[in-house]
Amino acid sequence: MAAGGSIVPQQLHFPKLSRLSIFIFALLLVFAPGSHGSPAHRKSGMSSVFSLFNLKEKSRFWTESVIHGDVDELESSNLGKSGALNYSKAGNVANYLKLHEVDSLHFPVPVNFIFVGFEGSGNQAFSLQPEELERWFTKIDHIFEHTRVPQIEEVLNPFYTVNVDKGSHHFPTLSHVNYNFSVHGIQMNEKVTSVLERAIAVLARKDDVSGSWESKDSLWQVDLDMMEGIFDSLVEYLQLGNAYNIFVLNPKHNTNITKYGYRRGLSESEIDFLRQNKSLQAILSESRTVPESTLAIEKIQRPLYEKHPMAKFAWTITEETDTVEWSNRCSEALDSIENLYQGKDVDYIIESKVSQVLNGKSGDLKLAFQKEIKSGDLGNLHAECLTDTWIGKDRWAFIDLSAGPFTWGPAVGGQGVRTEESLPNVTKTIGAVAEISEEEAEDRLQEAIQERFAVFGDREHEAIDILLAEIDIYELFSFKHCKGRRVKLALCEELDERMEELTNELQTMEGEEDDESRKRKAIDALKRMENWNLFSDVDVEFKNYTVARDTFLAHLGSNLWGSMRHIIAPSVADGRFHFYEQISYQLFFITQDKLKNIKNLPVDLKAIMDGLSSLLLPSQKVMFSQHMLPLSDDPAMAMAFSVARRAAAVPMLFVNGTYRKTVSNYLDSSILQHQLQRINDQNALKGMHANSRLTLEVPIFWFINGDPLLVDKYYQAKALSDMIIVVQSETPSWESHFQCNGHSILWDLRRPIKAAIAAASEHLAGLLPHHLAYSHAHETATEDWLWSMGCNPLSITSQGWRISQFHSDTIARSYIITSLEESIQLVNSAIHRLALEQTTQKSFKLFHSQERELVNKYNFAVGLWKRIATVTGELRYVDALRLLYNLDDASRGFAEKVNSTIALLHPIHCTRDRNVEVVFDMTTIPAFLVVFFILWLVLKPKRAKPKIN
Ligand SMILES: *[C@@H]1O[C@H](CO)[C@@H](O)[C@H](O)[C@H]1NC(C)=O
Ligand SMILES: *[C@@H]1O[C@H](CO)[C@@H](O)[C@H](O)[C@H]1NC(C)=O
Ligand SMILES: *[C@@H]1O[C@H](CO)[C@@H](O)[C@H](O)[C@H]1NC(C)=O
Ligand SMILES: *[C@@H]1O[C@H](CO)[C@@H](O)[C@H](O)[C@H]1NC(C)=O
Ligand SMILES: *[C@@H]1O[C@H](CO)[C@@H](O)[C@H](O)[C@H]1NC(C)=O
Repeated sequence: MAAGGSIVPQQLHFPKLSRLSIFIFALLLVFAPGSHGSPAHRKSGMSSVFSLFNLKEKSRFWTESVIHGDVDELESSNLGKSGALNYSKAGNVANYLKLHEVDSLHFPVPVNFIFVGFEGSGNQAFSLQPEELERWFTKIDHIFEHTRVPQIEEVLNPFYTVNVDKGSHHFPTLSHVNYNFSVHGIQMNEKVTSVLERAIAVLARKDDVSGSWESKDSLWQVDLDMMEGIFDSLVEYLQLGNAYNIFVLNPKHNTNITKYGYRRGLSESEIDFLRQNKSLQAILSESRTVPESTLAIEKIQRPLYEKHPMAKFAWTITEETDTVEWSNRCSEALDSIENLYQGKDVDYIIESKVSQVLNGKSGDLKLAFQKEIKSGDLGNLHAECLTDTWIGKDRWAFIDLSAGPFTWGPAVGGQGVRTEESLPNVTKTIGAVAEISEEEAEDRLQEAIQERFAVFGDREHEAIDILLAEIDIYELFSFKHCKGRRVKLALCEELDERMEELTNELQTMEGEEDDESRKRKAIDALKRMENWNLFSDVDVEFKNYTVARDTFLAHLGSNLWGSMRHIIAPSVADGRFHFYEQISYQLFFITQDKLKNIKNLPVDLKAIMDGLSSLLLPSQKVMFSQHMLPLSDDPAMAMAFSVARRAAAVPMLFVNGTYRKTVSNYLDSSILQHQLQRINDQNALKGMHANSRLTLEVPIFWFINGDPLLVDKYYQAKALSDMIIVVQSETPSWESHFQCNGHSILWDLRRPIKAAIAAASEHLAGLLPHHLAYSHAHETATEDWLWSMGCNPLSITSQGWRISQFHSDTIARSYIITSLEESIQLVNSAIHRLALEQTTQKSFKLFHSQERELVNKYNFAVGLWKRIATVTGELRYVDALRLLYNLDDASRGFAEKVNSTIALLHPIHCTRDRNVEVVFDMTTIPAFLVVFFILWLVLKPKRAKPKIN
């Protein structure tokens, strides 16, 4: 784009043909679609002195001083003759003003990685050194673009795959907006580790209540609702809520609880127990108050930082004094829970757990239990997956390396599924060397001896060969089982002694003169042993299983990086997501038959409205309107419905490997959208806010059907460009194409609230399921199901639909980034026009009269960008959204000023040019043709694309 700049000053000496080609070149630059869009172009853009936002690869933080200093300098040097000279020398206006198209703008994102149980008291006494972590963290990408995922489509035939529509985009997939993570590692002390270990022990129940209580390797479930209380209070206590907190846990294994996971609600076997126990049901349906069984931790604070340090990588070790108060409170709370459950039977525990759910805040569980207990059937309660990862309501999530391992993802096929190896295994990598016991070691040694001596057979052997065999065994065994252990094996010490003797014997053989071959063998063996000593002297002290540690840390690093890409700053769908002050949800419930009252609809309106409202930001207002549309009353709608209704033979492979052909009834969203749009035009379903920028109307068409019915074969709800389609039917347990821990995940098609909220979040702000993220390598979306966690609409492992602060922040950022991106595009295209504007001595005066205002307008827009980035970096999203109102005006103001300035300069150019060059030159004719042809190519009206998502 700088090409114009170097050519223009000499223009008068150029033949016309090349001036025209410059013109063509310029035109192409202005009009060529994607000239500032495609990542390839953008990355190669030159960096600017004036713009703060063109960060080089290495620089992490932009300095405040750049912007104003430069402008002042500019203005003072501009006056007088030298100003005019500089002006014409600069070549074009953008060059003169030192304006360049903005390449990227950085949002600081504060992140804490909090390590619990890595100070030496956790599993395998693993102790993580700050240098180690820093070494690995500096390898993680700290800056990456906000990314967008083009329209994707999930397909199951019969394997789960994701198809990407490589068609047109609203915005480039790699945004101008980059995230600049300031990562902080916090090592929690022993006290915190022991609180968590205690919490796991106290809050864990057997997964299987029917089994014998004695069995050793049974599966345990830790109560997540109460566990959340502990994390909430820790984040609150240390005042870490102004950053994103990812906890990595490495608690020691309790001897009684060998395998555990985290779960909300009841396990399958507990549900069975409740189902068969009518008296317990009766008690619960009376909703008698039971003893308080929630974790009551007093709210106290002791800030770890006043402000998140925006350093590149910092490391904090919490001292015991930092957390002693908190751990005491937690211990007390856990004591009281322990006392409550001590010696209680299953009845009591289930009763208290269910009443905790019924009095609790988790909307979905409460709703399901209320409905099922009222109906007295309980046949349609589904247990949630056991997991080892969780995302809290506030800005924290945890990964427990000692829990599990668990698996989940698409039942058959699919990439990036969560496997048992998705998280690093402390026991396997760090503890491997220390694992075997004395008896095991003896067995191994026996085996090694037998194996080695088996080759000798019955033949006579020389003493030296037997000695050498012994050395082999020592070498084999000692390197594998003795070196690098924390606790020395007695066997290893014996072996060491034996080796001393062997050395002595060998040394005597070395001295013998009569047998040359024996002597050589002895010398070789001694050399070999010397080499071991060389190794082990350094090894034992300093190597301490470096390879294992490095493998572990690399794996953990990639997991933590995944958390940044999937939950802290996830990719969003491609689209323009603007901020509206009001969201007006228009619910159209479409039923087969006519119902007298909206109350008779088989939907839980309150839950739906609560769920949809949870997507709003604090500054937004919500409105609801409900309408019933019986198909029998509305021929147009009935027509739309039946046209869109299709059946597909879907081949299905189940988790257990069974193959089945199922006929799936579904609504084709494209057809339905088209039909509904036609009705919309006629009946004006849209209300009075149709064209206002203050209120966004979101029509939700909620089809209620008897038989199982889905949208686009696999979904319960779908977000389209201008509406949301939800289907509900009477099937309580629909086997979905997902599995966890080897069982199909069942969907309750009677309550598609989770799917509806997920679709609404995609419609409003482009939120995508957690497992999807843009991959630079593939240039499209890739899947990592590890992150499909938590009880939110975007995960598969839970039926919950609670929106986390992570999601609210992503929604807010999505609005902010849309506006910023539009502003950047506007400003960049204005700068681009300035870059095409040539400077001459003559036009200087005119330009100078405009210069100050132009620079001011530019500074205003850029200053706003900067403020928005800063405020966003402090996670004050509501304040940042408030700045967006000015942003639009600011960038438009600059663009208009550029246009008017250019318009002002132009008449001069034209007259002057005409005066100089009047001769008609034949060589220009072909060039003109080329110009017209290119203009036609570029400007020809684009065919309207159908609005289908
Ligand atoms: C394990 O269970 C036994 C018997 O229930 C109990 O006595 C022991 O204290 C438990 N151990 C731990 C570490 O909790
Ligand atoms: C770690 O590896 C050990 C040994 O292979 C295995 O028994 C354990 O279940 C694994 N733990 C996790 C959490 O993956
Ligand atoms: C590993 O070696 C370093 C350096 O000698 C030492 O400081 C550290 O304590 C060792 N770690 C373990 C777990 O032994
Ligand atoms: C496999 O799973 C499907 C669906 O859950 C079930 O219908 C089928 O009976 C199972 N087959 C076997 C062999 O277990
Ligand atoms: C400025 O001019 C360009 C090209 O002439 C036009 O596309 C753009 O819309 C104008 N911008 C404003 C803000 O008037």
